[in-house]
Amino acid sequence: MTREISLTVNGVPRTASAEPRRLLSDFLRHDLGLTGTHVGCEHGVCGCCTVLFDGEPVRSCLMFAVTAAGHEVTTVEGLGADGGMSPVQRAFSECHGLQCGFCTPGFLCTVTALLRDDPRPSEDEVLEGISGNLCRCTGYQNIVKAVHRAADLIAEERTDR
Ligand code: FES
Ligand code: FES
Repeated sequence: MTREISLTVNGVPRTASAEPRRLLSDFLRHDLGLTGTHVGCEHGVCGCCTVLFDGEPVRSCLMFAVTAAGHEVTTVEGLGADGGMSPVQRAFSECHGLQCGFCTPGFLCTVTALLRDDPRPSEDEVLEGISGNLCRCTGYQNIVKAVHRAADLIAEERTDR
């Protein structure tokens, strides 16, 4: 038995049918074609599947798609604006905050929310903020640099307005 699930994804109203047990991560990837959200552990440990749910980072492998009905979800595909990369995406690129990139969509969503809530996090706050996202490749140093660089880019964008 499937149900129609309507929600807003990256600012666009979307509807698709899925079984009530369909995970939000699978719904985004397989039913809506948004494969930027990655699935690693599928049990809430790695953070690869992190998306923004009504603006807050959540692990989409721990939610059923039906519970997202009527809500707003932002995936990595929706972080940029006007076809370009967001400041957080640019900072990860500039600072080489990725290697294989599998963890990157989750980091980008987590860091976007982190810097929205705390535009100038300390080193400890950055480490705490990204502690729920696991990366097997980078050793985290360039990821941490990228978070601070993203804070600079966001501040620059604010002063340019
Ligand atoms: S795939 Fe969701 S936390 Fe690992
Ligand atoms: S860049 Fe490979 S897991 Fe993070």
